[in-house]
Amino acid sequence: MSNRVLLLGGTGEARQLAARLAATPGVEVITSLAGRTRDPARLEGATRTGGFGGRGQLAAWLTAERIDAVIDATHPFAAAISAAAVTASGQAGVPLLQLRRPGWTAGPGDDWRRIPTLAAAATGLPGERVLLTVGRTGLEVFAADQRRWFLIRSVQAPDGPLPARARLLTARGPFTVPGELALLHEHEIDVLVTKDSGGELTAAKLTAARQLGVPVVMVDRPPVPAAPAVATVAEALAWLSHGCPAPAARGRD
Ligand SMILES: NC(=O)c1ccc[n+]([C@@H]2O[C@H](COP(=O)([O-])OP(=O)(O)OC[C@H]3O[C@@H](n4cnc5c(N)ncnc54)[C@H](OP(=O)(O)O)[C@@H]3O)[C@@H](O)[C@H]2O)c1
Repeated sequence: MSNRVLLLGGTGEARQLAARLAATPGVEVITSLAGRTRDPARLEGATRTGGFGGRGQLAAWLTAERIDAVIDATHPFAAAISAAAVTASGQAGVPLLQLRRPGWTAGPGDDWRRIPTLAAAATGLPGERVLLTVGRTGLEVFAADQRRWFLIRSVQAPDGPLPARARLLTARGPFTVPGELALLHEHEIDVLVTKDSGGELTAAKLTAARQLGVPVVMVDRPPVPAAPAVATVAEALAWLSHGCPAPAARGRD
C-alpha cells in the first residue's frame, strides 16, 4: 500500500477513509480541507487546511511532500479542486483516484426537473413556496426573486445576498422522512430545489417530496475531467492496497 496519501476531504466518505487509513500500519494519511466549515468534524490522521494556490502549486506540494497517491474525496460539486487534482497529479506523476458517491436517480412517482446549474434553477421555479437545500453558497442567484417565499436550509448560515422573503434554517443531516414530511407540511412547500449530492444522509427530502407530490428541481453535478473513480470507501482502500492500478478512466456520472 502507498505510504503517504493525500486525501482531499470535506465529505463523510473522506472522514471514514481517513479513519481507515490512519489505522493502517505503514500508511500516513494527510487530509486536506478547504477551511470553509467553521467547526469541522474531527478527523483521524494528519490534516492541513486551506487552498494550495492553484493546480501548479498543488503539483509542487505533492512533490515536496513526497506523496505516493492522491484520493479526491471532495464533494461532487467541488469542481475546481477536482479539476486541479487531475492536472496536478498528472504533472507530479502521482496516481489519482476519485471517490464519488453515486448521484440520485428518480423513481416511479417522482416529479424531478433536472437543471444544469443553480442559476438555471432560479429561473422559472414551478412553485411559490420553495425549500432550498443547495448549501450556503451560490444563493445570490435567487436574491432578485421578490415574489416567492424561500425556506433556506444549510449547515452554516449563508453570507451572500438572499431573497427578500426568506427564512433561514441551519441544520445538519441525517434527516428522516417523517421529519422532512413535517417540514414540508409546516411551511406549505410546493417546490424543492436541491443539488444532486447523492448519499443516504440527505435523501429523505426526496422521499417526502414524492409522497406529497412536490416537484423537485435537481441541479446536475458539474463536469469534472475524467480520472479513475470508485463509489465506496472499501473500493478506495482496495485501490491503494493493490498499488494504485490505473483502470480505464470512468470519471463522474
Ligand atoms: N460545493 C459543495 O456543495 C460542497 C458541499 C459539501 C462540502 N464541500 C467541501 O467544501 C470544500 C470546498 O468546496 P468548494 O465547492 O468551494 O470547492 P471548489 O470550488 O472546488 O474549490 C475552490 C478552491 O478551494 C480550495 N479547495 C477546495 N477544496 C479543498 C480541499 N479539500 N483542500 C484544499 N483546498 C481546497 C482550492 O483552492 P486552491 O485553488 O487555492 O488550491 C480550490 O481551487 C471541499 O473540500 C468540498 O469537499 C463542498
